[in-house]
Amino acid sequence: MPNLKEIIERKKRGEPLTDDEIAYVVRGYVSGEIPDYQVAALLMAIYFRGMDERETFALTCEFIKSGVTLELDDIPGLKVDKHSTGGVGDKVSLIVAPWLASMGLVVPMISGRGLGHTGGTLDKLESIPGVRTDFTVEEFKQLLRDHRVAIVGQTDDIVPADRKFYELRDITSTVDSLPLMVASIMSKKLVEDLDVLVLDVKCGTGAFMKTRDAAEQLASLLVKVGQSYGVKTDAVITNMDVPLGRCVGNTLEVKEAIEFMRDGKMEEDLKHVVITIIERVLELAGVELDYWRYLESGAVYEKFVELVAAQGGDTSYVEDTGKLRTANHVVELKAWETGNLLSMDTERIGWLANHLGAGRFKKGDKINHAVGFVFWHKTGDIHRGDVIAEIHADDRELAEWVSDELRKAIRIG
Ligand code: URA
Repeated sequence: MPNLKEIIERKKRGEPLTDDEIAYVVRGYVSGEIPDYQVAALLMAIYFRGMDERETFALTCEFIKSGVTLELDDIPGLKVDKHSTGGVGDKVSLIVAPWLASMGLVVPMISGRGLGHTGGTLDKLESIPGVRTDFTVEEFKQLLRDHRVAIVGQTDDIVPADRKFYELRDITSTVDSLPLMVASIMSKKLVEDLDVLVLDVKCGTGAFMKTRDAAEQLASLLVKVGQSYGVKTDAVITNMDVPLGRCVGNTLEVKEAIEFMRDGKMEEDLKHVVITIIERVLELAGVELDYWRYLESGAVYEKFVELVAAQGGDTSYVEDTGKLRTANHVVELKAWETGNLLSMDTERIGWLANHLGAGRFKKGDKINHAVGFVFWHKTGDIHRGDVIAEIHADDRELAEWVSDELRKAIRIG
């Protein structure tokens, strides 16, 4: 009979765990028999000692088995999805999901909340008053039947293991572990009954994978797991050396995504990632479409409004984003010298967003949707006095502290 104390001890020494031991941990944690503190210790041991490919596959498989696997055969259309490995300012899912659905594809997107220093699609979507992301399996399927798209979270039935491990990893600094990321991401995607999956593997100072080598290693393992389950899977590696797009923070990012879909107002880097993913999904799906037409005709925006309404949201906040609550204070960080914006420590920027209240530091923390950053310059020439970023905060003193810290995270030379 496996025993958690021994399992932690063995992983601490770098020994591989058996499939039975992995099953014991996952099932025991989901059922509540194994406490947080023991799993936290095991996660840290896995973080430092890693897991081999067999263990990673076994962990993914146990996560999948913790809940139900969707059966979407009765819903016409190819089932497609994308997932990001986590970034700062990454609002791509909010745009790509309705875009793919507007073209007739079915997008059963199971997403996540903020993780470590990165933001989460569910938290962002919930900036719109009324939006729900916790649906039963039947409700989820009905959303897909009626609208071809839904963005939902993990529940007691939908990858409950990922829900529990995800929450614990977020606050125990055990996110950037290759096997834990693979199990978390792929379990969510492999219960969706997909035909096609594209993974957006972030690489750079704001990503969990800081180097190209690490990103490639993660990408190749994610693709291998996806393909082994018969899903046409591919990965793109995209830049996360600076925040993606202009905004960081839940409401601010939702507004940016809406402006992208409704007004065609888009930062080049965000546009690049969105288009890269759309093209790759269509290619894998074997579908040739003039995808740009769907954005220009307003179909993507309309699909987003439909999604918000279907998930209980008040669409008047989408139609008039000026109604969304804004932070009490906006402090500007201005360039302190003329020169070149050389680099940003984007992970630090993500943590600073958490300090403002955009993310969680402990389980159950309530997030503040209104706070975050707007970046007016990220790279290139800058003149003394130009506004690099706005800090949106509810507390003036906190805003000033974050501004000082942000300055330390940015290099001008
Ligand atoms: N996204 C997830 O769903 N899980 C991770 O571990 C990282 C990014």
